[in-house]
Amino acid sequence: MKKYNIAVVGATGMVGRTFLKVLEEVNLPVENYYLMASARSAGSKVTFMGKEYVIEELTENSFDKDIDIALFSAGGSTSEKFAPIAASKGVVVIDNSSAWRMDPEVPLVVPEVNPEDIAWNKGIIANPNCSTIQAMVPLKALHDKYKIKRVVYSTYQAVSGAGMGGYMDLENGLKGEAPKKFNHPIANNCLPQIDVFLDNGYTKEEMKMVNETRKILHDDDMKITATTVRVPVFDCHSESINVEFYNDFDLDELKKVLADMEGLVVQDDIANAVYPMAVNAKGKNEVFVGRIRRDESVESGVNLWVVADNIRKGAATNAVQIAQKLIEMNENK
Ligand code: A2P
Repeated sequence: MKKYNIAVVGATGMVGRTFLKVLEEVNLPVENYYLMASARSAGSKVTFMGKEYVIEELTENSFDKDIDIALFSAGGSTSEKFAPIAASKGVVVIDNSSAWRMDPEVPLVVPEVNPEDIAWNKGIIANPNCSTIQAMVPLKALHDKYKIKRVVYSTYQAVSGAGMGGYMDLENGLKGEAPKKFNHPIANNCLPQIDVFLDNGYTKEEMKMVNETRKILHDDDMKITATTVRVPVFDCHSESINVEFYNDFDLDELKKVLADMEGLVVQDDIANAVYPMAVNAKGKNEVFVGRIRRDESVESGVNLWVVADNIRKGAATNAVQIAQKLIEMNENK
């Protein structure tokens, strides 16, 4: 079996450090790892896989060596500039930023949902937005079975989605300090703004959920609307998802469809107050679904409560799973 050389770009960041944790947990056939970040942290040392690694500065020459796969999480502008350079040198980039997600030449992949799209990559594969990824796992199972007509997303998103700055704003805000990252206090508050506002009055985060869902589920006609909200929770995004179907369903059968979906765990025992919660999803790679109930206001619809660790399944885990599938596909060629 071929051994692969893997680069991690943005290895010192919040998602980058979780890339390293997840890579330590899975068993990829790897020859060498290269850990890269900006000039600011070049030369600093990181212990990874029981070895000490020196962080290299990301430059235009970083991919001149023999690298097969690069996991990028170093912001949109870094990806915009460096992903095409890496791809031109034969590297397959798995990019966590939003820079390439809606490019028609770039597959947007959740491995349990549309692994087939990995095959047509031209050197860049995009990792979807964190709030989109966790919604895709249950929705794919339901779309295949009952065909989704419309989705209403309402999210309750953790501050870790805004990086270290988001974390610090909540931590310091709880001590009464003014926010630095967000434009309002997040402590004891809910902010109905994630990312910037667009001309249609939606935020960019909301339109990411709309557009990425259509791309991943390969259905440009699906009706989707979203309200995304930052809440004073450190880790894990929670989402209320209201779904309307073209076809009828039986609720017990629908629950079974969800239980059978790869990567999805049903936690739904209301008699015992069991449902997905952020505190339980932290550090997990799966997506959790509960509060599964018929939407009695429409002919065929259901309400779901979906929770996942936004830095794991919403970012690092999903990217590493794409790398795993890519390697599997190469081996089976
Ligand atoms: P550095 O630590 O050297 O600044 P976060 O999202 O948690 O803020 O992390 C961002 C990650 O992206 C960090 O690893 C950061 O490295 C890296 N990064 C930011 N800008 C660049 C750049 N221009 N080139 C390479 N890495 C970058």
